[in-house]
Amino acid sequence: MRASERLTWASGIVAAGAGERVLEVGCGHGVLVSLLVGAGADVVGVDRSATMTAAAGRRNAQAMAAGRVRLVTASLTAADLGAAPFDAVVSFDVRAFWSPPAPEWDVVDRVLAPHGRVVVAFSLMTPDALDRVPAAIGRLAAERGLAVMTVLRAPTSPYESVAVELRRA
Ligand SMILES: C[S@@+](CC[C@H](N)C(=O)[O-])C[C@H]1O[C@@H](n2cnc3c(N)ncnc32)[C@H](O)[C@@H]1O
Repeated sequence: MRASERLTWASGIVAAGAGERVLEVGCGHGVLVSLLVGAGADVVGVDRSATMTAAAGRRNAQAMAAGRVRLVTASLTAADLGAAPFDAVVSFDVRAFWSPPAPEWDVVDRVLAPHGRVVVAFSLMTPDALDRVPAAIGRLAAERGLAVMTVLRAPTSPYESVAVELRRA
């Protein structure tokens, strides 16, 4: 199945390099997981829905067998993510990252490598979200020592996409 425009765009923003470790939060059907693996990354995908991780597992069976993908069925705050740090954390359309108190950011702070990057992307369904969501992400992430570097937009269909890139302040 062809990957959606928005997830292809998000994968390009993460720009995973060969051998990088990437965490995707709310991996859904595992489409972005596949794209990240295709770019050379080793990926841990977390989703609190067992239906979603099952679908992601079917889509990424080969990469899982090769040890390049691990899927975890849990809420991020309860997930066993192992001890190795991640070079990048990415999510698409996961509201937890802009809904206070957002303890998910504590997890990101814990698992992100010192040089790591974070990409929180969302579909722009209402015009007011263009300012409101990145501002909320910025506030919540700042409490954990992360700062917004850039806010990017893409004219994807059916909704425009927005990606907020962050790094340690
Ligand atoms: C709107 S869907 C987006 C799925 C996929 N990222 C995409 O863009 O197609 C949000 C997904 O995130 C998962 N999710 C939401 N909050 C989560 C959390 N705190 N921890 C783990 N998974 C979460 C949901 O179960 C759902 O599968």
